[in-house]
Amino acid sequence: MRLNIVVLPGDGIGPEVTGAALDILEAVSRSEGIELQHRDYPFGGAAIDACGQPLPEETLRACLASDGVLLGAVGGPGYDEAAKRGAPRPEQGLLGLRREMNLFANLRPSRLYPGLEAASPLREEVVAGTDILIVRELTGGLYFGEREEGTVSALDRLPYSAEEVERVARAAVQAAKGRSGKLVSVDKANVLATSRLWRMVVDRVAAEEGMEVEHILVDAMAMYLVSEPSRFDVVLTENLFGDILSDQASAVAGSVGLAPSASLSDPGRPGLFEPIHGSAPDIAGQGIANPIGAILSAALLLRYAIGAETAARKIEGAVEAALAAGLRTRDLGGRATTMEATKAVLQQL
Ligand code: NAI
Ligand code: MG
Repeated sequence: MRLNIVVLPGDGIGPEVTGAALDILEAVSRSEGIELQHRDYPFGGAAIDACGQPLPEETLRACLASDGVLLGAVGGPGYDEAAKRGAPRPEQGLLGLRREMNLFANLRPSRLYPGLEAASPLREEVVAGTDILIVRELTGGLYFGEREEGTVSALDRLPYSAEEVERVARAAVQAAKGRSGKLVSVDKANVLATSRLWRMVVDRVAAEEGMEVEHILVDAMAMYLVSEPSRFDVVLTENLFGDILSDQASAVAGSVGLAPSASLSDPGRPGLFEPIHGSAPDIAGQGIANPIGAILSAALLLRYAIGAETAARKIEGAVEAALAAGLRTRDLGGRATTMEATKAVLQQL
């Protein structure tokens, strides 16, 4: 099996955590017989420094031609200052890349690792066993609808086509098949027309795929996510609801340094894999960033880019074992450096 990836280290702790993730990817590729090819490209603030724009043409072309993209993080206070004087923003690169790669399905797993119960703001007996995958529609709805700015009245439209709902529903069903097979779809069908369309299409796709689906209204879901998070497995929802619920779910499961994400396009097209945290300028360059979010993103890359399920599970198992053996970076109340954390995972591999 061959795997040709583009690495976008980006800014702040981005290069530190993607470096760690690559060490793990290389090790597991060797043991699984995967022929790994990877190359770094400038992106975000680093690309603005190098060539004046956050998403250089060459970077975009390489991403589109790859099997998958591993991204660190972009942004930083210096770029915010420069943007006030008219410079481009690193985040424009990220939005541009999501659009150009047509990344309509954003997968965000939130899992409470055994032994890390204390990292959750919820009581241990409530949060124990939580393992949720939120599938958020990423290129439609309110964020991409028509907009009218105004100071007396303003307007944001929330459009969805059946086709847009169907493709993300299929991605969620696919993901659920690889997990417990329990699928929940979240909407506001008692009020919104797009939610009624959403529900109809999700029901049709689930029936075609032979999968049961439970529908939950978004306000109730917000409540269940904190009152009984361990009851959920795959949760499918539209762009705005997914933005909110996925942040909530990641907080339920503990540190921001642990959480990975995958953004997927149509089957056969490359996806983008990144930790959910930002560039953490407060700790950048100190070698103390938690690399686990990036390492778990590399596992998702193996799973979704080339279907290397065994290799992906090896990484996830090694992370779980390292945490169970006491690995704690600073964000988890410990003292392990990025390098020590990476070594601890390598050892478990
Ligand atoms: P952040 O996630 O960078 O940091 C929030 C807090 O969490 C900080 O105290 C940081 O030290 C800590 N933290 C984050 N990741 C960590 C890790 N792996 N290990 C240990 N501690 C970690 O969010 P913040 O501060 O709001 O944003 C900083 C910059 O990152 C901004 O320029 C923002 O625009 C950008 N950003 C970029 C994202 C991306 O590239 N996808 C996502 C979120 C923010
Ligand atoms: Mg958000």
